[in-house]
Amino acid sequence: MRQHSVRLLALMIAVASGAAVTPLALQSHPPEPHRHAEAQALENPMEATAESTATGRQRYVFMCRSCHGNTGLGDGDNAHAGGDVPDFTDDSWVHGPSDGEIFTVIKEGVSADMQPYADRITDEDIWHLVNYLKTLQR
Ligand code: HEC
Repeated sequence: MRQHSVRLLALMIAVASGAAVTPLALQSHPPEPHRHAEAQALENPMEATAESTATGRQRYVFMCRSCHGNTGLGDGDNAHAGGDVPDFTDDSWVHGPSDGEIFTVIKEGVSADMQPYADRITDEDIWHLVNYLKTLQR
């Protein structure tokens, strides 16, 4: 078997053998709001202090604002490049509202537009981002 088909087979087995080990990027994401039980169980180790949200804001400006917009409305300059950029100022979270779900979306990504940030931001900074995003809600 050629290498890519071996990899594909391994992927199919991983997906078929249960959600427990399936990364978020490979899970199903219906367009309507849904939950991710495993991610929901993660606890945010960072208290949402002013320092934490300020660090989150810094990362946001560098890496997220281009699509998500200055105030989180989903109206950044790149917002029209593809995908539907969500509004962080309302109380709807497509992939779940818990800190753990938001963390996992950022870490593992969910689409070609909302890519995984695991290699670019530390877990600690992702938690700071979660704390910051929650301050954008009206
Ligand atoms: C290239 C544009 C782009 C960039 C840059 C980007 N995002 Fe996204 N983001 C999207 C799109 C499009 C979606 C909707 C994806 C989907 O649900 O299919 C999304 C979805 C999300 C969601 C899920 C919201 C919900 O309703 O559940 C979170 C959280 C998020 N992004 C956070 C971030 C953070 C934090 C950064 C920076 C580290 C970032 N994004 C960078 C385009 C982007």
